[in-house]
Amino acid sequence: MKKFPENFFWGAAASGPQTEGITNKINKSIWDIWFEKEPERFYNQISPYVVCDTYNKFKEDIKLMKEINFNSFRTSIQWSRLIKDFYTGEVDPDAVRFYNEYIDELIKNGIEPIINLYHFDMPANLQEELGGWENKKTIELFVIFAKKAFELFGDRVKYWTTFNEPIVPVEGGYLYNFHYPCKKDMRLAVQVAYNIILAHAKAVQEYRRQKLDGKIGVILNLTPTYTRDERPEDKKAAHIADLFFNRSFLDPMVKGEFPQDLIEILKEHNMLPETTEEEKSIILNSKVDYLGVNYYVPRRVKAVEKTPKEFTEPEYYFEYHIKENGRFNPYRDGNEIHPVALYDIAKNIQENYNNIPWYIGEIGIAMSLDSEKTLPDGRIDDSFRTNLLIEHLDELHKAIQEGANCFGVHQWTFIDNWSWLNSFKRRYGFYRLDLETGERKIKEHAKWFKEVAKNNGY
Ligand code: FCB
Repeated sequence: MKKFPENFFWGAAASGPQTEGITNKINKSIWDIWFEKEPERFYNQISPYVVCDTYNKFKEDIKLMKEINFNSFRTSIQWSRLIKDFYTGEVDPDAVRFYNEYIDELIKNGIEPIINLYHFDMPANLQEELGGWENKKTIELFVIFAKKAFELFGDRVKYWTTFNEPIVPVEGGYLYNFHYPCKKDMRLAVQVAYNIILAHAKAVQEYRRQKLDGKIGVILNLTPTYTRDERPEDKKAAHIADLFFNRSFLDPMVKGEFPQDLIEILKEHNMLPETTEEEKSIILNSKVDYLGVNYYVPRRVKAVEKTPKEFTEPEYYFEYHIKENGRFNPYRDGNEIHPVALYDIAKNIQENYNNIPWYIGEIGIAMSLDSEKTLPDGRIDDSFRTNLLIEHLDELHKAIQEGANCFGVHQWTFIDNWSWLNSFKRRYGFYRLDLETGERKIKEHAKWFKEVAKNNGY
């Protein structure tokens, strides 16, 4: 039996915009308006409007969590639900009631809530009026929202996170066109990334100012970078990819400063963001208490054949490489399966980030709806998921034995939920969601997980 440390967190992660639905939501997010504008960009044109209907069903859902022995659960508070007036911070009373009841119900059932503040869901007005994270004014408004959330729920919520995968809105919105506002502008991307880091730091500062009894962290997608082989130009390519995609957020948030090599690269292209000394000192003094780490796929790179003329994206410095004879997940666009990455992530945190406490904020094993087979007796067989999760947990367990400071595992996700442009293309849940009826149905993997959570191991 592989045992995990005492009080290890077992549960799942989800987010407000992907589960709640829009019932009684006072403001719109960029996802709501983007769907209005371009529904055809969303897989099967499924909107974020109903999704899991958690707004109405959270009590039954928490029963389902308890049924499979969750001791913790992460979701997010939607800025566009909680705050009625973004500039004054006036809250919506129904949203306060909803989040209070949701949080209380979790706690009553012995499920520790981890509450995140931003999961890709910029309020639409702020995007349209201010340019969202392009504008430093948005940072102030985010801090107003964070302040309210801490004041309202910080007596009971002991684990907070500011952002989920803060690099993704930069990639999606400003480099590769998969989040609204779908711009492609490297200079703006750098400023947006910096502004998000500053927003994070200021929210951390506000949390500490309130002297609440809890911890604050951030959830990062730390995808390790591997090379084609040992040649030095590949190693250099990997180092740069790592600077852009991992260390850009990890270093300032854990160590309080940006990697010098990254600064040099941006300087060379005359693309340093606008910063002030005061802001830098806020970042330096807002190191997180803990990390959530999301992991899905490894990144493999090689040196570029021919350097592009213009620096329009980080890929100026490297090309992607597909591993020969690698293992790939047919249900997730052929993404590589590489469980050792979890061990490597753990080691990196242990060796280079002062062994800061961390937990797996998301590990998701995508399957298509029909690859989760319905057996003659009606059970849903998703053993592909269980087998892969075991392989990953084996690597994590080994790292913990060697001193990694990991305190939990959250699988993405609890009930199959809506996933941005992919809507419901890939399924990840412990429970299947029937899109027609809203019915939730347990999968076999969940029954396996129930035992793992009970035994604190497998
Ligand atoms: C992660 C996101 C999460 C979900 C999964 C599939 O990158 O954090 O919201 O969509 O991917």
